[in-house]
Amino acid sequence: MAIHFENIKEFIGSRVSWDSRDDIFTPEAAAAIRAKVEERTVVVFPQIDLSDEEQLRITDLMGGKVRLTARNNVQSNDQDVYQVTLDEKINPQPEYVLGTFFWHMDGITVDMPPPFATLLSCRIAPDKGGETEFASTYAAYEGLPEEEKQAIEGLKAVHSVRASLSPIADAIPEKHRDKVLGIGLVKEHPIVWTHESGRKSMVIGTTADHIVGMEIPAGRAMLIRLQEWAAQPAFSLRHKWSKGDFVIWDNTGAMHRAIPYDKSTGRMMHRTSIAGSEKVAA
Ligand code: OGA
Ligand code: MN
Repeated sequence: MAIHFENIKEFIGSRVSWDSRDDIFTPEAAAAIRAKVEERTVVVFPQIDLSDEEQLRITDLMGGKVRLTARNNVQSNDQDVYQVTLDEKINPQPEYVLGTFFWHMDGITVDMPPPFATLLSCRIAPDKGGETEFASTYAAYEGLPEEEKQAIEGLKAVHSVRASLSPIADAIPEKHRDKVLGIGLVKEHPIVWTHESGRKSMVIGTTADHIVGMEIPAGRAMLIRLQEWAAQPAFSLRHKWSKGDFVIWDNTGAMHRAIPYDKSTGRMMHRTSIAGSEKVAA
């Protein structure tokens, strides 16, 4: 097996290179990539140009795919590939994609363990905007001052799609606003997630509406401060997409967001998800 990894920043990111493209599609490579995703949070394959079939093969080899969002698309013929686009001919619910402009974790309000990882292939790169940013909540937790770690220990936040879409609620056409805001469930999660490995990350992002048992303003302010802390350059990474780039990230230890882009850029990403095996636990 000849695939190589190179760190991108001190606390986050790894870039993959390969001798032969076929080297990526073996169980041994998948295990090495999975371990690297856990270690470095974000793993980038520059311009590998995967087909849907190849992306699904890697997804399955790394741990089993899970369907996060109902089929939205007319172009891809595989139900397990979600097309991330603002083109409403392909995606009749562009609001959901506009919600990706704000820091979030995927699948945090559905009734299953949060997906371990999200995988995105760039099919059409935008010429302006549309980079994706990742913030490691492992590194961010680790870097908190001891008294802040203690202050958030044992706290729980209430998460909902409604909260994550509240920044764009006014832009959702009234006729389906209630339906869109009502997607998913309302879920309570500990802010500090102690993983089976013993490592700790934070479950934060715009899905987090308020903190259980705290006054709403103080709880929201705390959630926003934690988001800002995690998003600082030391713990985060911005990826500028070229066509064919493929990125895998640890959804259980990172928030992510898209830098705003316009529909006219034609930006198109194909997304798959790897099932999670751990429920959020304190
Ligand atoms: C998503 C998502 C980010 C992006 O599809 O869940 O957050 O940059 N996408 O498109
Ligand atoms: Mn997302």
